Amino acid sequence: ALIDKGNHRHFMQKEIYEQPVVVAQTLSSYLRTLEAKVALPDMEFDLGSVERVAIVACGTASYVGAIGKYWLEQMARVPVEVDVASEFRYREPVLGPNTLGLVISQSGETADTLAALRHMKSEGVTTAGIINVPTSSMAREVDLLLPTHAGPEIGVASTKAFTCQLAVMAALAANIARAKGKLSDADEAVLVKHLAEVPAAMNAALAHDAEIEGMAHTIAGARDVLYLGRGPDYPLALEGALKLKEISYIHAEGYAAGEMKHGPIALIDESVPVIVIAPSGPLFDKTVSNMQEVQARGGKVVLISDSEGLAQAGEGALATIEMPKVHPLIAPLVYAVPVQLLAYHVAVVKGTDVDQPRNLAKSVTVE
Ligand code: AGP
Repeated sequence: ALIDKGNHRHFMQKEIYEQPVVVAQTLSSYLRTLEAKVALPDMEFDLGSVERVAIVACGTASYVGAIGKYWLEQMARVPVEVDVASEFRYREPVLGPNTLGLVISQSGETADTLAALRHMKSEGVTTAGIINVPTSSMAREVDLLLPTHAGPEIGVASTKAFTCQLAVMAALAANIARAKGKLSDADEAVLVKHLAEVPAAMNAALAHDAEIEGMAHTIAGARDVLYLGRGPDYPLALEGALKLKEISYIHAEGYAAGEMKHGPIALIDESVPVIVIAPSGPLFDKTVSNMQEVQARGGKVVLISDSEGLAQAGEGALATIEMPKVHPLIAPLVYAVPVQLLAYHVAVVKGTDVDQPRNLAKSVTVE
């Protein structure tokens, strides 16, 4: 079937807007809401025996892995390492027994990730793949295919594949945790409830589109933009910076909020917008104090938080974006929406080719 943009100006915009539906679609194959259980497809190995997880991916998919590391270590108490695929093979990784190798890829064809998958298999590692294209090479070669149901993603900048990958990652983390006796029925029920709320929370996030569009003019004039986050929102800061770089060509960096004072804060002056991703929760106060260090040096903060967080720390920000109140665990899925919209609108202001940015290919099939 031909894919068109519908009422949208760009595929990227359409794909951002599709997220509540495709994430719900993806979750529906992993959640048994009536039984309050998270399920995976049948597999020929025991997740309870997994003692380490090695995650390999590129670009946006690698940030899903980095968020997954927080989730897997917290929930399942298994050590996780995350590599970008181009570094993985050549650093001669130590892959012990009982390691689960996990690749994450929208296309299932990215050359470096495919080579890493083959390397893991040749070392006797059991592999799983969170993959969007079911007919792809990776989908055929992994021992356990964990499909995302994002549908075809046309925009070179990945959006809906990212959030669908996160949904599957959460399901995998919960299943490993349960298999290892680290997730009680009660905790699993709570997790299922939070995950089931994601599509509605994404819709609430999308409702801020016009406001974000309004800020885009200010950001579009910047030479550099920083993104800050803590915990699972740190890799989301990296993703926000990548998204902005890819389509607006503005230099952007993501940092762990607490790392600012170890160097990057030297970059701050009145001309640098700083996007702070900070849902209220256990890490909020720490992030706020890092944000205040930035503000004290003239940095122009855009604070993305919920009503509680904004009431506490929104004053003095250049702009705020209010997200619905969600559990910190699922915040990266919901906070991805304003981060994507901001990059999108800045690129539109700059007049770049949003769906086909210069120098980039949708699927990178050379090493
Ligand atoms: C995302 O916006 C990028 N275009 C890029 O980082 C992409 O995520 C990466 O090339 C991985 O692609 P894959 O998911 O198809 O393997």
